[in-house]
Amino acid sequence: MGAKMSINFDTEVSRLGTGAEKYESRKSLFGKADVEPFWVADMDLPSPPFLQQKLAERVAHPMFGYTTTPDSLLEAITWWWRHEHQAAVETDWIRLSPSVVTSISLAVQSMSAPGDGVVILSPVYGPFFFSTELNQRRILDVPLKIQEGQYTFDFDALQMCFEKNRPSLLFLCSPHNPGGRVWSEAELRRLAVLCNEYHVRIFSDEIHCDIVYAPYRHFSLLRIEEAKDICIVAHSIGKTFNASGLCASLVVIPSPTIRKAFVHAQEQSHCGTVNLLGKAAMEVAFSNEGAAYKQALLAYLKNNVDHAVSALNQIRDARIMTPQATFLVWCDFRAYGKWPAVMKKLIHQANVALSGGTFFGTAGEGFFRLNIAHPSAPLLNAVSRIVETMNRE
Ligand SMILES: Cc1ncc(COP(=O)(O)O)c(C=O)c1O
Repeated sequence: MGAKMSINFDTEVSRLGTGAEKYESRKSLFGKADVEPFWVADMDLPSPPFLQQKLAERVAHPMFGYTTTPDSLLEAITWWWRHEHQAAVETDWIRLSPSVVTSISLAVQSMSAPGDGVVILSPVYGPFFFSTELNQRRILDVPLKIQEGQYTFDFDALQMCFEKNRPSLLFLCSPHNPGGRVWSEAELRRLAVLCNEYHVRIFSDEIHCDIVYAPYRHFSLLRIEEAKDICIVAHSIGKTFNASGLCASLVVIPSPTIRKAFVHAQEQSHCGTVNLLGKAAMEVAFSNEGAAYKQALLAYLKNNVDHAVSALNQIRDARIMTPQATFLVWCDFRAYGKWPAVMKKLIHQANVALSGGTFFGTAGEGFFRLNIAHPSAPLLNAVSRIVETMNRE
């Protein structure tokens, strides 16, 4: 573990005037330009100062021409996987990508053919559905089960789906957005064995893998021997370092066959790299200093999770999923009637904008997702307004 880093996450920093989607889209998405936004998964907490400084240094140079990918960046990425996630990654396995969603689409294009089935374990991050449909593949929705308040895989339903539909690809979100579940080694191994048996490849979106609360630990699919020949694993600096706007992500592909197909898809669309500021940011983020920032951030987020979940549990007929990972809290408000009416109440009475559950598939209907990566004071204020509104007759 790196040295301790002290950052004041309590300071409220206005994002107005920075083009932040979370703020700028309020009127169009929620019909109210001044509603407090707790929806899209980016943080209202500062990126690390050393990252900001690195960008400032780079911007001070007056030329922004084409760049190469330095070995030092690839080594920083392998270091992060090894140091933070005990996963041995070779530099040849890495491809940069402008965003994880770009990689999701390229995975569909390179790991399946038009008309093929793609398995989606819902509720889950919306672009898994959108990319599948936009690329003319068939969505095979196999909903997760809720057991003891947490999502689990439904292996029986999965096997039936594989048997009947012979899909090419399965999307895994690990850790899980929106439920915050950290999949165990045993679950992942069983999934990989089943996928091998039916020749199904796995795209494992591990963008949330750094935000995991003790005693839980992320177990990358890269550490599952049975998955090595069938997987693509995606990561990014977007979530951990609040840097989604830099469009800097990566995939790790151990299999030469899958890698070749993925690279071909990247070349077809000429989208196999990251802009120069993204590269600079990635290289400093995946470092000892980045690990120290992550620790400080995790401590802050954990405190927010604990307080927010404990307050939300005061809502009479709600079920709140305590996240094992992510800065997202999944709230089951199905007992409160049709979701558009609940959404309206939250916007106009509580003055908060949450993500509506249908973004995560039909299994998300009636659920709402709260982003707790905000300074504690305004977050807990908003949470108490949610509680009060939901408990009002
Ligand atoms: C699971 C998951 N994957 C991907 C993304 C987006 O990644 P990117 O901005 O790199 O496309 C998000 C953002 O919320 C996410 O939650």
